[in-house]
Amino acid sequence: MAKNISILQFAGISIDHNLDQPLYQQVYSSLRSAILEGLLRPGYRMPATRTLSIELGVSRNTILIAFDQLTAEGYLKSFVGSGTFVSDFLPENLLQVNGEKSKSKKSGSINIRVSKRSNDISNILSTANNLSREVKTFKHGSPSIADFPFKIWKKISGDIIQKLPEKTLGYGDPAGYWPLRQAIATYLRTYRAVKCEAEQVIIVSGSQQALDFTGRLILDPGESVLMEDPGYMGAKGAFYSSGLKLVPIPVDDQGIITDYLTNSDSEARLCYVTPSHQYPLGSVLSIKRRMELLDLAVKNNFMILEDDYDSEFRYSGKPLPSLQGLDKSDRVIYTGSFSKVLFPALRLGYLVVPPQLIETFTTLRSLTDRGSPVLEQSIIAEFIQSGDFYRHIRKMRKLYHERQKILVSEIDKQLEGLLTVKETDSGMHLVGWLPENCNDQAVSKYLYSKGIIAPALNDYCLEYKQKPGLILGYTA
Ligand SMILES: Cc1ncc(COP(=O)(O)O)c(C=O)c1O
Repeated sequence: MAKNISILQFAGISIDHNLDQPLYQQVYSSLRSAILEGLLRPGYRMPATRTLSIELGVSRNTILIAFDQLTAEGYLKSFVGSGTFVSDFLPENLLQVNGEKSKSKKSGSINIRVSKRSNDISNILSTANNLSREVKTFKHGSPSIADFPFKIWKKISGDIIQKLPEKTLGYGDPAGYWPLRQAIATYLRTYRAVKCEAEQVIIVSGSQQALDFTGRLILDPGESVLMEDPGYMGAKGAFYSSGLKLVPIPVDDQGIITDYLTNSDSEARLCYVTPSHQYPLGSVLSIKRRMELLDLAVKNNFMILEDDYDSEFRYSGKPLPSLQGLDKSDRVIYTGSFSKVLFPALRLGYLVVPPQLIETFTTLRSLTDRGSPVLEQSIIAEFIQSGDFYRHIRKMRKLYHERQKILVSEIDKQLEGLLTVKETDSGMHLVGWLPENCNDQAVSKYLYSKGIIAPALNDYCLEYKQKPGLILGYTA
């Protein structure tokens, strides 16, 4: 009998040598049950009999006898030279042997009680999931992956894997890989006028985690967040899942309308904004409103979460300094992402938090998922330090600007009277305005059925309805 001890339990099977039942019968009935319960699925290639004998702690002969019986009954099929497989077509009556019904779990068989929050979240995510499917025409928010310098990226990755010091492979600093935090701090100080030290930079798993953390750490469940309306669904979802209430604040062509903040819920402890490129309308928060917002934050005692998700793509005019850079009272928490400027699958972004919040945010990161993989962090750090990051941004800025111009001119030529668009100074998408009497949600649904992703502007609204429009991406 094989003496080796299995390190993994194959299909939950354990053989008991003390039972009177012969071992081959135990193996046979355990494998049969595993097939009937759906643990071993049709087409699954069974391990070699020698391997399985080691896994189950029985002789190979025992396994061979059990396999023979399962093959004779149609549960398994053997092909000379390729191995033994679970049969593709198990006859219905086989699934009911001895009246035994398949025990495989069917969804909906019991009523799991979920929180009210969970329903709110599912409603948001069903739309978000649509957006994450494979790239289709006009899908917005995705960079042009085809134009990413993978050759350089692969070279940097290869070099890093070769010389990655062993000490970086343990549990690292949950706040992130130090050289990356330094590189980000330099980049933000230089190009976004963010006032920060590397210690204040906390690496997160995409800005989505930054929104989630901020909602959880600044507010208690039941408290309110001031939120741009229309606004980013990812933020709405993150705040809902922390049990927060949303207080919608309307937006116009100069960004969030600060006058509404004066009269809004004075209990709100956080205001979420996208000042560089309002999501989804695309307006830039004017300098006057930036100053008003910062003043109000002090006066009404709320924090501001500045989501600077795509500010790198500015095509003309001078970018306005970040809100964080104008803030003198440590009221602003800043977040940025590598999803747009590099690629989304990295799942890396960053927070810049006021010094007194560094420890709280770092602790939550540690408790949530310990931190981000060091390998990707070191590749990005090197990509920034080598200057390739800046070269890539410049190249993409030019490319996206050209694509925007083509989109606008083609819509003007081909969809006159149906869709109106204007060139914008920044961003990765624009709004195509439909005729006033159109229902943008119905138009968007119809387009989706034709394989075109162009979400309706009114899908992003909470309280303040917008004129009918479609969100059109042009970068991917
Ligand atoms: C407004 C806004 N903020 C943040 C993000 C970035 O999210 P992440 O960094 O999690 O990919 C997006 C992505 O679509 C966005 O549209």
